[in-house]
Amino acid sequence: MAAPWIAPSILSADFARLGAEVDAVVAAGADLVHFDVMDNHYVPNLTIGPLVCEALRKHGVKVPIDVHLMVRPVDRLVPDFARAGATYISFHPEASEHVDRTIALIREQGCRPGLVFNPATPLDWLDYTLEKLDLVLLMSVNPGFAGQQFIAGVLPKIAEVRRRVRASGREIRIEADGGIRTDNIAAVARAGADTFVAGSAIYGSSDYAATIRAMRAAIASAHAQSA
Ligand code: DX5
Ligand code: ZN
Repeated sequence: MAAPWIAPSILSADFARLGAEVDAVVAAGADLVHFDVMDNHYVPNLTIGPLVCEALRKHGVKVPIDVHLMVRPVDRLVPDFARAGATYISFHPEASEHVDRTIALIREQGCRPGLVFNPATPLDWLDYTLEKLDLVLLMSVNPGFAGQQFIAGVLPKIAEVRRRVRASGREIRIEADGGIRTDNIAAVARAGADTFVAGSAIYGSSDYAATIRAMRAAIASAHAQSA
């Protein structure tokens, strides 16, 4: 399995000091920056757009930026985020009229495409898309807000995605997002995720590095147990 990546969600950062907050999690060991885009239409909340992504790049952020689009329609924003320096761009299939076209658009724009599954969204959407994806993102909360309770029913779903990715023979990241903390991240790793989003658990802690270290230790112990 690929090396585990920790992806702090900047949704829980102090937005008045965003550049410094991103620098701080990178210095604390974050592998990528999870960037939650909400439109008050697909989800009942409103956050940040391409200008903020571009500002982080101009500020000097070098790690991959993992853009999670919770917007409808999707396509209009893809080129803007590509220009703004996004690395991954993930979207919810229900929010796109033409899923295959959106995946192709993300790729054409030089970014890595990901598909996102809400807790109740079936994995059927992977049937004709998996070979075109670089990332599958499983929501372990309903999208819209940080700080929600982890939905454990996603664990068998992660395991099913791991089986499908293994069968595909392709290198595809499996990311889990929502309610992940130091005390449940091992279960998420054991189920087969290799990329872990955490917003409130990291930004709400007093020592980002200690929290990320504890997360890595829990992931390592989960893998040691299953080896
Ligand atoms: C929820 C977002 C998440 C959120 C995670 O819609 O996609 O990325 O910021 O926050 P926590 O880790 O606090 O659940
Ligand atoms: Zn997210």
